[in-house]
Amino acid sequence: EKDLIVLGIETSCDETAASIVKDGKDILSNVVASQIESHKRFGGVVPELASRHHVEQITNVVERALEEANVTFKDIDAIAVTEGPGLVGALLVGVSAAKAIAFAQQIPLVGVHHIAGHIYANRLITEMKFPLLSLVVSGGHTELVLMEKHGSFKVIGETRDDAAGEAYDKVARTLQLPYPGGPHIDRLAHEGEPILKLPRAWLEEGSYDFSFSGLKSAVINTLHNAEQRGEKISPENLAASFQASVIEVLTEKTIRAAKEYGVNQVLLAGGVAANKGLRSSLTAAFDSLPDIELHIPPLHLCTDNAAMIAAAGSMLYKLGKRSNLDMNANPGLDI
Ligand code: KG4
Ligand code: ZN
Repeated sequence: EKDLIVLGIETSCDETAASIVKDGKDILSNVVASQIESHKRFGGVVPELASRHHVEQITNVVERALEEANVTFKDIDAIAVTEGPGLVGALLVGVSAAKAIAFAQQIPLVGVHHIAGHIYANRLITEMKFPLLSLVVSGGHTELVLMEKHGSFKVIGETRDDAAGEAYDKVARTLQLPYPGGPHIDRLAHEGEPILKLPRAWLEEGSYDFSFSGLKSAVINTLHNAEQRGEKISPENLAASFQASVIEVLTEKTIRAAKEYGVNQVLLAGGVAANKGLRSSLTAAFDSLPDIELHIPPLHLCTDNAAMIAAAGSMLYKLGKRSNLDMNANPGLDI
């Protein structure tokens, strides 16, 4: 049987990305043009600026992905593109490019949900064994997703307010750290001690939902109260205490869900999966549960990229999914 060669395209936020993946698992190329430098001075992603950067970059990024994989459009069996969720103007650039190529080159088109992409980043490092549980933690999402087979996604828990990455970025901003703040908090946390008392949002008994806005407010209040008393709080200890609260809740709920649903694998996904504290906490916790495999993709596959979209798209293509040329960007797409 001939290899399945898929071109993936991702433009949902601030990375313009294209990738060629073979058989849903082998990366032939993975090109990411980051816009972080342009958004940094605004302290967050500016949607209009993101769209313009995508327009400037998309052709170049797709050409580089083909070149580095040593293939042409003639070799491509399907084009997988993120159709949502994300910033509508940003998504539109990738979707329009994918549709234009699909039409001009007569290549089948497959729309991919961004979170399905994050989960399938794991397919680039391992075989998937169902049932499995994925903890998706990014700047826009915090979800526990149960998968009983390929292409089936059941959200068993999600954040009721801020996403984990969003909380990291907001706390970082309060500490006057650059955007995106996650990696800076992570670094500071390792230089401090978690000695400050901060809340853990367990929510109702048995709930797999999350909430991080209370924790974020507690961090801000702790800083302000200290300021008013003329005291100085160590940013390292504050970062360590904040990170300890986030990690404890994420780890605890993931373990409980993994046991309740009797899963074979737990797959970490999304940009916050780059967090060193979260990685070591989950690794330690699952070391004592030998029946459950824990997988954590390398950092460059955790943050936004197009290889993960090509991986998810390859699976959907094999399941028979085809999108029409009237496919539209959908910022609120359900998984
Ligand atoms: O998945 P991603 O690249 O984009 C979204 O789809 O949101 O995730 C970006 C998020 C940002 O909020 C960033 O601060 C966070 O991931 N992040 C981290 C770390 N590295 C990135 N958060 C905590 N610790 C890190 N080391
Ligand atoms: Zn993402």
